[in-house]
Amino acid sequence: MAESTEVPTPGTAFDELGHAATQLDPEAPPILTVRHLKQYFPVKSSGLIRRKVGDVKAVDDISFQVPQGGSLGLVGESGCGKSTTGRAITRLYTPTEGSVEFDGNDIANYSARQLKPLRSEIQMIFQDPYSSLNPRHTVGSIIAAPLRIHDMVPKDQTLKRVQELLEIVGLNPEHYNRYPNEFSGGQRQRIGIARALALQPKLIVADEPVSALDVSIQAQVVNLLQDIQRDFGVAFLFIAHDLAVVRHFCPEVAVMYLGKIVEIGDRESIYENAHHPYTQALLSAVPEVKSAVTGEPDAGRIRLEGDVPSPIDPPSGCRFRTRCPIAQEICATQEPPLLQIGQRHKVACHFPGRRGDVPTRPVTTRMLGVDDTGAPDPGMSGAEKMVDEPGYADTWLDLDRNTVGRA
Ligand SMILES: Nc1ncnc2c1ncn2[C@@H]1O[C@H](COP(=O)(O)OP(=O)(O)OP(=O)(O)O)[C@@H](O)[C@H]1O
Ligand code: SF4
Ligand SMILES: [Mg+2]
Repeated sequence: MAESTEVPTPGTAFDELGHAATQLDPEAPPILTVRHLKQYFPVKSSGLIRRKVGDVKAVDDISFQVPQGGSLGLVGESGCGKSTTGRAITRLYTPTEGSVEFDGNDIANYSARQLKPLRSEIQMIFQDPYSSLNPRHTVGSIIAAPLRIHDMVPKDQTLKRVQELLEIVGLNPEHYNRYPNEFSGGQRQRIGIARALALQPKLIVADEPVSALDVSIQAQVVNLLQDIQRDFGVAFLFIAHDLAVVRHFCPEVAVMYLGKIVEIGDRESIYENAHHPYTQALLSAVPEVKSAVTGEPDAGRIRLEGDVPSPIDPPSGCRFRTRCPIAQEICATQEPPLLQIGQRHKVACHFPGRRGDVPTRPVTTRMLGVDDTGAPDPGMSGAEKMVDEPGYADTWLDLDRNTVGRA
């Protein structure tokens, strides 16, 4: 049951070991639209009478879309709220605020009964192929369970369907009677994928599906997900903690920091033209990816100082300011809006720019009605409409030309 032991260079693995990168279909309508999603967890005092003393603001007002049959990557450091976002969308949690529009219906506040038919349409793949499969059940019964619960196939057809699913994910259909511990890590993740596929979902939330695997096996599993997307038209929200893993599979990427989306855009905008200091720092940690894409030599790693602050009491203004190498006064008082700066590119920063080439004055003063320090300034209240909706508008702020860009 050994898998390939070839170990490719990190970052180039996905290109060398198989399929071409997944391409964006800009015409595809959204299967998922998330608006102003918040997911807070109460913090209680200790002692006999446990009062609520605050909230962990794990996800704090994020908006984005996933196109039908497409894939959006969601990246960011540990604890930034990626899994919580995935769990709110799959309704393992009830969102604190905001809407989760799946296939045209807002499911954010659906009851358990209303959610039941949807359970087959949205599936989740988990990070750890070791703990997400019950070791006491055979692979056949693990994959058959959702088929039975949702009455998907007649009883006498279940084994045939399980074998088909094993074949789709590249496993021997005769091995349905084996137990998870008889498989390698990559093979166990394939079993998890077969289980998710059993109900023919329209959307799969894949939460770090390859993080626990060796680099060469990672590429094989990503290739399998690409095959599945192509053959069955499934859309993916693909969660990962680094930008290298999502580049190949996700034509669009959202970067999260401390519960917020700080930059979102198509592959070119994020990997070749990142305008947020945090995205640039993440990219600089995988230099071979950036130089493979841009052909430019590695510009050196940006080392972020300090720890990620607590989501219970996040910094005022821009949440990244305590670690940002270019923070200024306004960053402490005003939260930067997620501003559209390209056809499919948004960034939340008062000083957005390419690495080493940032504006000397904040670009957000007019829309916020403030002066350069962030203090209210009635003379500046041009109050342009903030772009805080999911998706992209036909016009945007062209920072290079200092004009309005149009599609
Ligand atoms: N059930 C919960 N109750 C309280 N706090 C929680 C709960 N789940 C997550 N958190 C907190 O919310 C924040 C976001 O957690 P989350 O698991 O979404 O991060 P993540 O981006 O998936 O991180 P990782 O890369 O480590 O998986 C963290 O501070 C975490 O401690
Ligand atoms: S808004 Fe300020 S602190 Fe935040 S990323 Fe931009 S420059 Fe840095
Ligand atoms: Mg997580």
